[in-house]
Amino acid sequence: MKRIVLMMVAVTAVVATVASSSPVSGRMDEAASPIYGVTIPPGYRDWKMIAVAQLKTDKVDQLRAQLGNEIAIKAYKEGTIPFPDGSIIVALHWTRVASEDNDKVLAGPFPGAQSFVVGSPVNMQVMVKDSKKYAATGGWGFGDFKDGKPADEAMHKACFSCHEPAKDRDFVFTRYAPF
Ligand code: HEC
Repeated sequence: MKRIVLMMVAVTAVVATVASSSPVSGRMDEAASPIYGVTIPPGYRDWKMIAVAQLKTDKVDQLRAQLGNEIAIKAYKEGTIPFPDGSIIVALHWTRVASEDNDKVLAGPFPGAQSFVVGSPVNMQVMVKDSKKYAATGGWGFGDFKDGKPADEAMHKACFSCHEPAKDRDFVFTRYAPF
């Protein structure tokens, strides 16, 4: 029994190594976005903040944060356009919910105060700069993930064309929040 378990651990390790070392191989990696082969970048949760935003439509009410890796943050600070290869921007989207706890505290000095905070994660979106690999889409590869899994191809077909109006800023809408 012990040997079988050990063998299973070994096989799992080999499979995991092969899977992680070939993100854009012949067969599509399940963790990679369709069309672009973009995966969730490790360590993204500790990246620096670019800005925050809110999106309200008739279907969604979200709070959003944009974070950048070192290369992207440096480019933002120095105003470098286009963003250099290796830049990665992630956008984290949450539901926006009212905080009754906060409201109670704030109601004293601010009657009728309405405080909103992040609720649950909705999805995350990733833009990866590689001017050669993604030459056809402004040098950016796109990925949209929900619960760690990429969205379908139809969704990814829409990314670049909608980002085209921001061509002057290298297809990136978000501006660096001053402070
Ligand atoms: C309907 C138009 C539209 C589509 C489709 C779209 N985006 Fe965006 N995207 C925007 C706008 C506008 C912003 C800035 C406002 C915001 O973040 O809500 C944005 C922001 C972003 C950001 C933060 C950096 C930036 O450009 O501000 C990322 C990352 C991103 N989108 C990735 C994607 C990915 C990946 C897809 C496809 C799966 C996609 N977007 C599809 C319009 C779009």
